[in-house]
Amino acid sequence: MKTMEAILKRRSIRQFTRQSIAQEDLNTLLRAAMMAPTARNCQEWEFVVVRDKNTFQKIMHIHPYAPMLAQADCAIIVCGNTQREHAPGYWIADCGAATQNILLAATSLGIGSVWLGVYPNEERMDGLARILGLPESVKPLNIIALGYPAEHKEEVDRFDPAKIHPEKW
Ligand SMILES: Cc1cc2nc3c(=O)[nH]c(=O)nc-3n(C[C@H](O)[C@H](O)[C@H](O)COP(=O)(O)O)c2cc1C
Repeated sequence: MKTMEAILKRRSIRQFTRQSIAQEDLNTLLRAAMMAPTARNCQEWEFVVVRDKNTFQKIMHIHPYAPMLAQADCAIIVCGNTQREHAPGYWIADCGAATQNILLAATSLGIGSVWLGVYPNEERMDGLARILGLPESVKPLNIIALGYPAEHKEEVDRFDPAKIHPEKW
């Protein structure tokens, strides 16, 4: 799939079939993540890959908007290692770029995905750190739920000329 096609086709998918994602495809998603740009090329990301349904249950207890995990095949928790970032706060931008690469790569492979927000909600961050055993310096940005789509979402066109400010505001 061409890049622009994947960008236009990507939608949040919250219903999944029981089909499992092959490890090779999962690695493709993680390779895409690690090709994202980072400030000073710090690559301070860490990815926790979860397939254990018990862990999904625990996450659903601390995240109120993650019921689709009950159907997901796996989840990638995108984290930033604050000991390795260029300067305080850069992990958020860097891991956001990695996340979008995962979402687009998943779309191009026909895999459904949805970004479940964690940062900056401290309760969710602390809850995930406890469940996953994250070190103090490793902060979770989000959970990406993954699986083969059991729903079809139409493309939407959000291009809005009013959001564009030529030269100055
Ligand atoms: C920072 C962030 C947090 C989000 N958190 C959730 C969430 O907790 N649960 C959920 O179902 N979707 C979540 N989403 C997905 C958005 O609801 C979705 O991207 C938005 O409605 C646009 O729809 P689309 O992704 O299909 O284009 C989140 C997206 C972002 C970028």
